[in-house]
Amino acid sequence: MGFAVGIVCILVGLIVSWPAVAVGAGLTLIFGFLWIRDVSRAHAAAPPVHPEAEGAPDPAAAVPETSHAEAERYPRSKFLEGATLGLGAAIGAVVTVPAVGFALVPAFVDQGHPEIDLGPMDNFAQGEWVITHFELDPVQGEVTRRVAYIRYNGLADNEPSFTIISNRCAHLGCPVQPGGLVQPDKTKDEKTPGGQLVSLTPVVGLSSFTCPCHGGSYDSEGNRTAGPPVRGLDRWTYKIKHGHLVLITNYSVSTVEGTGANAVINKYRLTGPGQHVDGPEQIFYPWQPPTS
Ligand code: FES
Repeated sequence: MGFAVGIVCILVGLIVSWPAVAVGAGLTLIFGFLWIRDVSRAHAAAPPVHPEAEGAPDPAAAVPETSHAEAERYPRSKFLEGATLGLGAAIGAVVTVPAVGFALVPAFVDQGHPEIDLGPMDNFAQGEWVITHFELDPVQGEVTRRVAYIRYNGLADNEPSFTIISNRCAHLGCPVQPGGLVQPDKTKDEKTPGGQLVSLTPVVGLSSFTCPCHGGSYDSEGNRTAGPPVRGLDRWTYKIKHGHLVLITNYSVSTVEGTGANAVINKYRLTGPGQHVDGPEQIFYPWQPPTS
């Protein structure tokens, strides 16, 4: 039972969290060791049984010294039992291992995307919001198209500071809309050196984000202000490379204190929409370690 519970913990932990995998591995090792020890002890303690001696009152007396070689012979029933179990295990492994492999392995392999070059920093005027469309992976094309709201905050400690907010609602993932005057006639399409097609549309007076699906509302830093979303809007990490703004990866946010370059962002590993990343509710979701 302990061994089985350990295996279950490992499998659940692979989906839920690494600490559960560690606990499962510990249980599996401990109970596996105890199981093997019990089996080997029982095997060592069992008296040798000669088929012809079954039913004899004293098993030790039933195996005469002279018939030692005959007593060592492997019983046919034991062989058939082992062969049946072994064959069943082999068939089970052939059926199960590929299915489990195809279900679990992709979650751990090649889940990233290349860095995304959004073009020169000059595309982003200080203090102005820009709706930016881009592809996560140009090789995979349109299906990877994403949207971020980007504002250049100016220099902070001699480093360019950007606020880059994902448009994915933190409730169920609908695209949030900007509360400001969108200027489609000023849209600029750019092809970056990496072949990325980037579309930039300025927004004037952006003061909030709203979600059309269930009325979720956020302030201009992405903090939830009303409706069903359980946290703030996700954000992107970035770097400046050869004067270009480059997106690296996205992460989840519980709340943001302050604004622009002075904002203190409570970051978490990227999580799905609808998941709490802090507070007591987070125990119902996979554990999300805070990131720096
Ligand atoms: S998906 Fe945005 S409020 Fe429900």
